[in-house]
Amino acid sequence: MTRTSAFGTPSRRAVLAGAAASAGLASVKPAWAQGDQPSLRDLAAARGLLFGSVAGMAPPGRLGGSLQDPAYQALLIADCGGLVAENEMKWAALRPDAERFDFDRMDQIAAFATEHDMALRGHTLLWHHPQWFPRWLTDYDYGARPAAEGERLLTEHIRGVTARYPQVVSFDVVNETVDAGTGALRETSLSRAMGQEVLDVAFHTAREAAPQARLCYNDYMSWEAGHEAHRAGVLRLLEGFRKRGVPVDALGVQSHIGSGNTDDSVGFDTAQEREWRVFLDEVVGMGFDLEITEFDVHDKNLPLDFEVRDRAVADLAERYLDLMLDYPQTRTVMLWGLADHYSWLQGLWPRADGAAKRPTPWDAAFKPKPLRAAIERSLTRAKPR
Ligand code: XIL
Repeated sequence: MTRTSAFGTPSRRAVLAGAAASAGLASVKPAWAQGDQPSLRDLAAARGLLFGSVAGMAPPGRLGGSLQDPAYQALLIADCGGLVAENEMKWAALRPDAERFDFDRMDQIAAFATEHDMALRGHTLLWHHPQWFPRWLTDYDYGARPAAEGERLLTEHIRGVTARYPQVVSFDVVNETVDAGTGALRETSLSRAMGQEVLDVAFHTAREAAPQARLCYNDYMSWEAGHEAHRAGVLRLLEGFRKRGVPVDALGVQSHIGSGNTDDSVGFDTAQEREWRVFLDEVVGMGFDLEITEFDVHDKNLPLDFEVRDRAVADLAERYLDLMLDYPQTRTVMLWGLADHYSWLQGLWPRADGAAKRPTPWDAAFKPKPLRAAIERSLTRAKPR
């Protein structure tokens, strides 16, 4: 009998066992996997890597609502060993106000991960970027002792979330606090109340409350021209963490690659690749691990033609993943979306031709694209760690 999850989908074990029984084999792919490719989950795991993706509980059919779609669930179950919530663990989703937590949607994501034996990543305990603070937090009255009140609010939040999800293997404790344009630290109501100590307090609290989890600083710096200040700012931040003995284990490299954000052509040439290695060498040289936390390939400026576009996306992805996996410190590869029509990039930075984007391994009909094969090759080449 097939065990059915709360989502109405058969569990991974049940799917695999059912497929194995009908084929008379010990281990076979699920029925809806294409061709005879191995699962990315298993390929990665055999090399000591965690491979997974984002999913979200927005209303069905909407961006951010991928986990409501049974076809998307099937991809997660087939290929992913790790799961991260697209928005549901952020303050804006969890905290209607300063007093309450609303864990409902995040609980459902966590339950899906448990049902399908997937490791849960926690994103994020503090998206320290004013644009992404809930309005009530931006307008919050910190009272006569703002530093103490800020610390009370922040530590209560982190303790609440970490206690609710003790299964999280890795937290993006702080997200995007370095201003991409200047490299300076961003200001929020919390940092105005507490000073930049807010970041250290976040990590110390997370370590104490979730000693089992790996703690990451997560950001989107890249090798691209225009990212020099961002990279330098992240290095300064990490250096400061080390000097002050702040418990940070890894740098989360978001890896929204491609160049849709900057309008220059896709790709990295040798000089840019060198710059990127210099940056990564500095990070691992300080003793930090690396995680690829939000991989996708922005095709904003690529030609409309699907074949040309998908090939360029796959080529860049393969070179990038090869480089990142060349570092034994990289043990996590998480995608920010499996199927194109659910990608957050559909809602931002439109293409000049207005066409839909193709930044993920499966198209809008859940057909695998060359990007999936590229990821498979790169994972296959990765040395065991
Ligand atoms: C994005 C989500 O995908 C969107 O649904 C939401 O509207 C905004 O946030 N870097 C991050 C992620 O750290 O949290 C962002 O996710 C994408 C960029």
